[in-house]
Amino acid sequence: MSATVNVSIPDYVKNERFKTWLHEMVALCKPDNVYFCDGSEEEYASLCEQMVQSGTFKRLNPEKRPNSFLALSDPSDVARVEDRTFICSRRKEDAGPTNNWVNPKEMRTTLGKLFDGCMQGRTMYVVPFSMGPLGSRIAQIGIELSDSPYVVVNMKIMTRMGKKVWDVMGQDGEFVPCMHTVGAPLQPGQQDVSWPCNKDQKYIVHFPEDREIWSYGSGYGGNALLGKKCFALRIASTMARDEGWLAEHMLILGMEDTKGSKTYIAAAFPSACGKTNLAMLIPPQGFDGYKVTTVGDDIAWIKPGDDGRLYAINPEAGFFGVAPGTSYKSNPNAMESIKANTIFTNCALTPDGDVWWEDMTDTPPPELIDWQGEKWTPEIAKEKGRKAAHPNARFTAPASQCPVMDANWENPDGVPIAAFVFGGRRASTVPLVYQAVNWNFGVYLAATIGSEMTAAAFGNIGQVRRDPFAMLPFCGYHMGDYFNHWMQVGRELPNPPRIFGVNWFRKNKDGKFMWPGFGENMRVLKWVVDRVNGRAAASESPLGWMPRYEDLHWKGLESFTREQFDELMTVDREAWKQEVLSHEELFAKLYDRLPKEFIWMRELMQSSLWRSPEQWHLEPERAE
Ligand code: OXD
Ligand code: MN
Repeated sequence: MSATVNVSIPDYVKNERFKTWLHEMVALCKPDNVYFCDGSEEEYASLCEQMVQSGTFKRLNPEKRPNSFLALSDPSDVARVEDRTFICSRRKEDAGPTNNWVNPKEMRTTLGKLFDGCMQGRTMYVVPFSMGPLGSRIAQIGIELSDSPYVVVNMKIMTRMGKKVWDVMGQDGEFVPCMHTVGAPLQPGQQDVSWPCNKDQKYIVHFPEDREIWSYGSGYGGNALLGKKCFALRIASTMARDEGWLAEHMLILGMEDTKGSKTYIAAAFPSACGKTNLAMLIPPQGFDGYKVTTVGDDIAWIKPGDDGRLYAINPEAGFFGVAPGTSYKSNPNAMESIKANTIFTNCALTPDGDVWWEDMTDTPPPELIDWQGEKWTPEIAKEKGRKAAHPNARFTAPASQCPVMDANWENPDGVPIAAFVFGGRRASTVPLVYQAVNWNFGVYLAATIGSEMTAAAFGNIGQVRRDPFAMLPFCGYHMGDYFNHWMQVGRELPNPPRIFGVNWFRKNKDGKFMWPGFGENMRVLKWVVDRVNGRAAASESPLGWMPRYEDLHWKGLESFTREQFDELMTVDREAWKQEVLSHEELFAKLYDRLPKEFIWMRELMQSSLWRSPEQWHLEPERAE
């Protein structure tokens, strides 16, 4: 127990392990006060007001954005810091070559020094939260101790946060301890800044065996809202491996057809591929009677049910979405979700007290205050290349405000997943959609997705950054073990979901996107849903099963010709031989723990490509 601060633990907190931990952490961090968050609306309002007073928040014009705020971060604290993110497993091999590793003893010594007195002059907030509906068999509990009121109000939106969590935890329930500090103690009388952080040192640390998170120096997003990437992906992925379930970087959506039958899909894309847009897709013209509903836009926790199917929940309760690029054109449902009760970070401020970001509207407002607090005009932007909003500016909004949330999004049992979809941003080579022939080939497909980082010359592959399962920055253990875990999950399911690859971003030789994307992606989703329900035909290809022109629903997009579709679906033999060869780079890195099946699957793909014609095209349906 700290000598300096008197901690009074409310009666309703009964968990003994928590109490011991809290006393240790108070003694270490030496905050001025300890405050137990109850998760109430009053508490939220009073913390927001406190931040308005301290200059962290600007209250937006209530007539434009009721109950909404703008925060501008320190320019050194604007995104996740992958190079400062550590997986400190006991053995280095268990973190694998794709994670930063430091010996846990050494890291605990480093953190011990950094955290000593780190909350001086500040309040330690105790933030109890549930990832997933309270009490769900798939949900988990965490307690974040943070010295940032910004974190508290964001956690209130992003998780089920507050008093009720203690009831679920009881006296001896499990929880994940999540330590967070902005790393900026205040000396007596020292004036605080509007965005405290530590400009020099940042550590985002995970101890997977102890199921513990320690975050130092940043107040931004995934670095500080520890329920999200740190817990729901890095720590949860290790829990999932040990316990036979999946914690994935996936959106979950439901598609309802004209007969009212609903099919759920989980889909993984690397960051910045439009996951939030896809999760909230509005069916385009030609899809009367169809509905797409959102369960989640970023993370899925998936467990086998007694009936042998996989059931998924969205462990989050809000959206922490990238603002730039979000508009009534690209994602009307997201725009509706952020009309009120939203926290904006690093967006630009309009003269009438609202927010703006690049591409929110076709014409930018004539004058703004940019995310660094400077005057911004379109002329200044042109001249100096300055952005009004930071490219990683965010909105934090309650999921319940999204007009298309699925009726089951809070169902503690989750929703049954019928298909997994994986995609990257590939300018070349990868066709619009294909279905893996079976689960193992699907795991291979997912392991090798990625995005092209350099421009590809037409017919050639650019430099591809592989992002297996879109989990590269988020897997809490060795990627090779992760692939094996996926293989094992498939082995244990009587009828595993089907696995698909998609690519919305293929370009033609003029550098133009070949597929309109956005709402039109519904056509691909419909084929996926029809396939898993045994209703759609497909043709065998060197990559798996692919739809022919006549297998897709074209009503409302009749202008898209068979020739365009064929070009979009072309499998170029030479490019694919290169593609499959280039998987070697990833495999070599993970070789010691790579599933042996991958080697054979790669060989099989190679040999089927040797056999195929130079340009493999789908055959139109033949008359019998
Ligand atoms: C995110 C990400 O913020 O994936 O969701 O980077
Ligand atoms: Mn994400």
